[in-house]
Amino acid sequence: MIKIAPSILSADFARLGEEIRDIDSAGADYVHIDAMDGHFVPNLTIGPMIVEAIRPITKLPLDVHLMLSNPDQYIADFAKAGADIISVHVEACTHLHRTIQLIKEHGVRTGVVLNPATPVQHVLPILQEVDLVLQMSVNPGFGGQQFIPSVLNNIKELKAYKEKNQYTYEIEVDGGVNPETAKACVEAGATVLVAGSAVFGKSDRSEAIESLRSR
Ligand code: DX5
Ligand code: ZN
Repeated sequence: MIKIAPSILSADFARLGEEIRDIDSAGADYVHIDAMDGHFVPNLTIGPMIVEAIRPITKLPLDVHLMLSNPDQYIADFAKAGADIISVHVEACTHLHRTIQLIKEHGVRTGVVLNPATPVQHVLPILQEVDLVLQMSVNPGFGGQQFIPSVLNNIKELKAYKEKNQYTYEIEVDGGVNPETAKACVEAGATVLVAGSAVFGKSDRSEAIESLRSR
């Protein structure tokens, strides 16, 4: 069963609590939270304070995507705030095993993220250690961008490597996912779909989530 992780980047922030309750009752599997530092990506968004505020609103796992130049500095804060999964960009981590280990020490599930132009080879050495691989299908920073089709090859490689080694990591795709692109992602091997505008841009969130899941 494909999991759907609505990205709250496209939610109405003035009504964030209601927005999260809405996707929860609409059948979302994770709440995807995009933390941006204005340095690794050209945008500023959510910090640990917001994650802490969201935590009591839902029992859904909080899937925190760190787009930070220095993730190590903030892992403890996001973990204490209630993150269930913390994903870090391979492009931002000089000592990736150390960063993944740090996330584990906080009892949080681990994820590694690749930008669309990053070769899959760059994450192979860490795949035994992580619970999730997040393949970006846009250049991170903003919601509502167009899906980059070349990432489908990366998803296929990640799936083949997983099967060959009998690993269990989830393969998550993030950026420009809508009912049309979702189909290709799932066929390539994606198991979790992140969607911002394709969920929060629709008034009926159950229908939006279902149309992604059933594509
Ligand atoms: C982009 C973020 C995404 C974003 C996706 O940097 O990582 O999670 O919210 O938005 P859509 O689904 O609208 O492309
Ligand atoms: Zn994201």
